[in-house]
Amino acid sequence: MRIYLDHNATTPVDPVAAAAMMRALQDLFGNASSVHYYGQQAKAAIDDARSAVAALIGAEPSEIVFTSGGTEADNFAIRGAAEALEVTGRKHLITSGIEHEAVLNTFKALAKRGWKTTVLPLDARGIVSSDALRDAMTDDTALVSIMHANNEIGTIQPIAELATIAKGRGALFHTDAVQSAGKIPVNVRALGVDLVAISAHKFYGPKGIGALWAKRGVRLSPFLSGGKQERNRRAGTENVPGIIGAGIAAQLAMTKMDVDAPRLSTLRDRLESGILSSVPNTDVNGSRDARVPNTTNISFERIEAESLLIALDLEGVAVSTGSACSSGTLEPSHVLKAMGLSSHRAQNSIRFSLGASNNEEQIDHVISILPRIVTKLRSLSAVGSRN
Ligand SMILES: Cc1ncc(COP(=O)(O)O)c(C=O)c1O
Repeated sequence: MRIYLDHNATTPVDPVAAAAMMRALQDLFGNASSVHYYGQQAKAAIDDARSAVAALIGAEPSEIVFTSGGTEADNFAIRGAAEALEVTGRKHLITSGIEHEAVLNTFKALAKRGWKTTVLPLDARGIVSSDALRDAMTDDTALVSIMHANNEIGTIQPIAELATIAKGRGALFHTDAVQSAGKIPVNVRALGVDLVAISAHKFYGPKGIGALWAKRGVRLSPFLSGGKQERNRRAGTENVPGIIGAGIAAQLAMTKMDVDAPRLSTLRDRLESGILSSVPNTDVNGSRDARVPNTTNISFERIEAESLLIALDLEGVAVSTGSACSSGTLEPSHVLKAMGLSSHRAQNSIRFSLGASNNEEQIDHVISILPRIVTKLRSLSAVGSRN
C-alpha cells in the first residue's frame, strides 16, 4: 500500500484536467496572439480558464495575470508593487517570519537594494498579531505581505483584519494564498487585499502555472518585458495547456470544496488524535482551530524528523519535514522557529498533508505502524546518545 500524505508539496493532476490538457497539447497549438482561427481557439480557451480561476477567488477575469506558478506570482506582486511605488518615496516593506521562501527571499533581495524591511514575529499558535502589524506600520510602508494559509502547519492568518490595518496607513496588501486557494473559500474582496498569489499544482492542476490577482487600479511594474500578453503585465507566449489545466482544476475545486473540506478535516483529526493517543510524547505544532482542513504538523520528541520520514517512506508512506538541507546540514524549519519552538522541537516535526486520494483505511494504517517505528527510532537514538 502506498499512501501519499504530502499534498501541500504538490497534488496529482486531476484526470479531468489532465485530459483537457492533452487535448490542448494536440489541438490548441495556435499562438493566442494570432488573429487567425488557430490563435482565436487558443485565446478563447485561455479566456474560459481565466474566468474559472477568477471565480475560485471571487475576482474579475481581467484582474488575473497567469504566471509560471506561486513563486513567480509572489515575486511579481512584491517586486512589481515595490518598483511601481518607488516614486512615492515609500521605501518600507513588511512581512512575517512564517512566509514561504518565495516571499522571504524576495524581501531579502529588496533589502539588498535599499528597501527597509520588517519581518513580524508570530505567537506560539503561528498567528501574526494585529498589534504587531500596527506597531510596525509607518508612513513609509509601501506594502505588507502576509500569507493566507501556511504550507507547513496550515494556520490561517486573520488577513481581513491585517489588511484593514495596512490599508488604513495607505499601504498595499499582498497575500500568498497558494495553500488556501482550492482548499477553503478565498474571496479577494472579503479579504480586502490588493494582490493575491495562487498556484495550480496545489489544487490538482499542473505544475508551472499559477496566477497573480491584482485589484483593478493597482499599479504594478511589468514582471517580464516583451510582448503585450496578459495586458502588458507578463510578456511571453501563453502556456495554453497549463492555463487550461489550471482553469479546470479551479472549477473542480469550487464544486468539490463543500464536500472535500469537511471530509479531509475529519480524516486529519482522526490521524492527529490517533497519533497523539498511540505515540507518547507527541504534540501538534500551531493553532488547531485556525487551520486549513488537510494539514497537521506533529512533533515527535527524541526523533529526528528526517529519520522518521525515511522510515515511513520505506513503509510506503510519503510525508515531509519543514527542514531544509543547506550545505549538507539540516536547518530546522524557519516557520517552527519563528513560532518560538526550540530548534530541537523544530527538528522533531513532521507535516502530514491530506488530499483527495486518502481514506480512513490509509489513515488507520499510518496510525497502526507509527508506534512501532517511533519506538525503534527512539531506542536507536538512546543507544546513540550513550556513545
Ligand atoms: C505558501 C507557498 N507559497 C508559494 C509556493 C510556491 O509555489 P510554486 O511551487 O507554484 O512556485 C508554495 C509552494 O510550495 C507555497 O506553499
